[in-house]
Amino acid sequence: MTTQKSFALLTGASRGLGKQIAYELAKRGYNLLLVSLPGEGLDKLVMEPQFHSIEVQYLEYDLTDKQQLYALSEHVNANYQLCMLINNAGMGCSKSMLEADSHLIDQIIQLNITATSILTHRLLPNLLRYRGNAHILNVSSMASYSPIAYKTVYPASKRFVHNFSMGLRYELKGTNVFVSVTHPGPMLTNNEIKEKVKHLGLWAKCLLVSPELSAKITVHRMLRKQNSIIPGVINKINWLLMSVLPEFITISIISGQYKKASNS
Ligand SMILES: NC(=O)c1ccc[n+]([C@@H]2O[C@H](COP(=O)([O-])OP(=O)(O)OC[C@H]3O[C@@H](n4cnc5c(N)ncnc54)[C@H](OP(=O)(O)O)[C@@H]3O)[C@@H](O)[C@H]2O)c1
Repeated sequence: MTTQKSFALLTGASRGLGKQIAYELAKRGYNLLLVSLPGEGLDKLVMEPQFHSIEVQYLEYDLTDKQQLYALSEHVNANYQLCMLINNAGMGCSKSMLEADSHLIDQIIQLNITATSILTHRLLPNLLRYRGNAHILNVSSMASYSPIAYKTVYPASKRFVHNFSMGLRYELKGTNVFVSVTHPGPMLTNNEIKEKVKHLGLWAKCLLVSPELSAKITVHRMLRKQNSIIPGVINKINWLLMSVLPEFITISIISGQYKKASNS
C-alpha cells in the first residue's frame, strides 16, 4: 500500500451523472479515484478547481474488458485504501432486439452487470478493512421497475443492479460497509438520450431530473445509509404508480412510448 489516505473510487466519472457525483464528493472532502475509458478527458477534469482541496487521481480502464477489470482491481487493492466504491459507469440502447447487434448487447451486460459485480467482489475486502463507515453505491435506473420493449436488455440489467445491491446490503449487515442503490429517472446526459427524449411523450419529459440534482440527492442519501434511493419527487410518484399497476399495464404504457420514439 503506497498511501494510507482513504479514497472513494467512482466509475464513469468523465461526464454525466458520474462527474456530478465527483463534484458532490469533492465538496464533502473525499479523496477521489476517478475511472473512465482512456482518452476521455479525465486528465483535464482532475485539474478543475472543484478538486483543488482534495487528492484526486484518475485511472483509465475499459470496464467491458475482463482483463482490464481484474487489472484495475489488483492495482487499487495494492495501492489504495478505499472508503467508498461507486459503480456508476453504465450504458443502454433503445433498439428492438432484431435491430440491436450482439456486440452492443454484450457490452451492456459486461458494463452494467459484470463490471458492477466483479469490481464489488474484488474491492469488498478493501472496504471491509477501512476503519470507519464505508459505502458501496450502485447506479440502477427507474427503468429497473418495469420490463420495457425496444430497450429490453437495459432495464433487465438495471433490475440485476437493484437486486444485487439489496441482497449484498443484507449480507453485509453488522459490518462497516453500507450498500445503497440509486434509481435515477431520465437525465439529459449523452446525445442518445437527448435525441430519444425529444420523441418521448409529455410524461417522460416531466420525469426529467438534472444530473446535478440526481447526484446531490443520491450522495446525501447514500451518506445517510439509505438502501434504495429515487432522486426527485416526480420519479417517486412514478415509482408508486408503477408499483400499484399490474406489470402488463406498465409494460404496455412505457413500451408504447419507446415504440413511438423508435419509429420517429
Ligand atoms: N442518463 C439517464 O437518463 C440515466 C437514467 C437512469 C440511470 N442512468 C444510469 O446512470 C449512470 C450514468 O449514466 P450517464 O447518463 O451519466 O452516462 P454517460 O453520460 O453516457 O456517461 C457514462 C460514463 O460511463 C463511462 N463508461 C462508458 N463505458 C465505459 C467503459 N467501457 N469503461 C469505463 N467507463 C465507461 C463513460 O466514460 P467515457 O467518457 O470514458 O466514455 C462515462 O463516464 C449509468 O449507469 C446509467 O445507466 C442514466
